[in-house]
Amino acid sequence: MTKKILILPGDGVGPEIIAQAEKILSFLIAETGLAIELDRGLIGGNAIDETGAPLPEETLKKANESTAILMGSVGGPKWESIDRQLRPERGLLAIRGELELFANLRPAFLFSQLLKASTLNEEVVSGLDLMIVRELTGGIYFGNPRGIRELSDGQREGFNTLVYNESEIKRIAKVAFETASKRQGRLCSVDKANVLEATELWREIVSEMAKDYPDVELQHMYIDNASMQLVRAPKQFDVILTTNMFGDILSDLASMLTGSIGMLPSASLASDGKGMYEPVHGSAPDIADQNIANPLATILSLSMLLRYSLGEDKLANMLEQAVSQVLTDGFRTKDIYSDGMTCVGTDEMGDAVIKTLSTLLV
Ligand code: IPM
Ligand code: MG
Repeated sequence: MTKKILILPGDGVGPEIIAQAEKILSFLIAETGLAIELDRGLIGGNAIDETGAPLPEETLKKANESTAILMGSVGGPKWESIDRQLRPERGLLAIRGELELFANLRPAFLFSQLLKASTLNEEVVSGLDLMIVRELTGGIYFGNPRGIRELSDGQREGFNTLVYNESEIKRIAKVAFETASKRQGRLCSVDKANVLEATELWREIVSEMAKDYPDVELQHMYIDNASMQLVRAPKQFDVILTTNMFGDILSDLASMLTGSIGMLPSASLASDGKGMYEPVHGSAPDIADQNIANPLATILSLSMLLRYSLGEDKLANMLEQAVSQVLTDGFRTKDIYSDGMTCVGTDEMGDAVIKTLSTLLV
């Protein structure tokens, strides 16, 4: 059966990096006969410009009809001052929420070729391979009430709600336990249970569930300590399970262990198997349209799409192997460049991956 993949380039560097992944996907379709139909849609700032909404109805309809979605990035200074409800980021949150993409997998893997690109000592990061499982459709990002209100004394007050119910905690914890049992069997649940009741419950439920996964060694850590440990000794982690906001912060932090935020892919999965795939980085408007953005995070997101949504493990592995080979061959975008390497643009990096893929496919 032909599967539909919806492509949402978004804003800033989004269109440039997505173009590379799309090029690779089209190449794979042509070479392997993958039964895939591609469609495109608007999201974020460009959607606001064209339709007035950051997540147009049409995009949501197309997303609902797709097996998987490949997304670039949203946002930029152009839309920062518009009404809060209509900002580009709201479009991203809305699609995550509407499709119930609650499980966000963010692997932080250091390609050995990039050992020198990290700001941390080689011994600290060499061999780094961890997975952050971030809850993506609940917590303080979605909790109500929220807003900015005026108090009786005339000053304004901003407020948000951190809320998690048992089923939300259980379904994300299940993904994390299962992920850990397929990896090294170590799970660290990160919370702030010493201060926040919502995560006190989180800790209690995760602890109860551990009984069902005797092969997984569970540990709990407070978010402040976890941030420190991630920089001090990141290799102690295998799988990190955490809330929406803590996961947002920890994944940016973890990305720098791998040399550049331009290297980190992500998968956001629903329980019905639908997935949205996007780089962890943002729209980087300061470097947009210059052909210098690193497309590898998006290309690696495509590899996650092949694996998780299409069950094409072999092609996913091959694509990862191609990325690794391109790095071995010395190709580097500006963010991961070091002396002696070949500095290439966004487009050339995409071409280099295709060239290597064509040698692997024969
Ligand atoms: C991410 C991003 C988003 C988030 C923004 C753009 C809404 O930072 O995917 O990590 O906070 O989830
Ligand atoms: Mg983020």
